Amino acid sequence: MSLSARTRESIARLVSAYPERRTALLPALKLAQTDAGWLPPEAIAEAADLVGVPHSAALELAEFYTMLHTQPGPARHVVICAQLPCALKGAEALIRDLHTGLRSQIEAGTLDVERTSECFGACHRAPMARVGDTYHENLDAEARRGLIAELAGQ
Ligand code: FES
Repeated sequence: MSLSARTRESIARLVSAYPERRTALLPALKLAQTDAGWLPPEAIAEAADLVGVPHSAALELAEFYTMLHTQPGPARHVVICAQLPCALKGAEALIRDLHTGLRSQIEAGTLDVERTSECFGACHRAPMARVGDTYHENLDAEARRGLIAELAGQ
């Protein structure tokens, strides 16, 4: 598996935009993941080579962040922030509603819903969810219904 020419060019632009090449590693891995759907070892190695860091450094970073996937899985990942501000604003109800409303997608293996202890940095807009690279804020009951309908393709 090789990254697309477009992704390789995007990573090269990223590297030239940062004063320290290795700073481009995280966004480079995100681009590689978008290209491949997940991060197989070859994609991690190729991104590392393009950034100019050891493969081990890229693998370590890929395994650290929950938004990066080193194993193949569902096409869509929904991650719920479960830190205290989001918990106080209904993160558990959000998780419960997503599991209930998206049961068929979860059981079919096309989508997963997980909680994280990672704060998304917008606590004043809690509760929060990240779908791929898109953040959804202020997920009250009405907003949750809209998100579920969107994810269910309705
Ligand atoms: S606690 Fe959820 S975004 Fe900060």
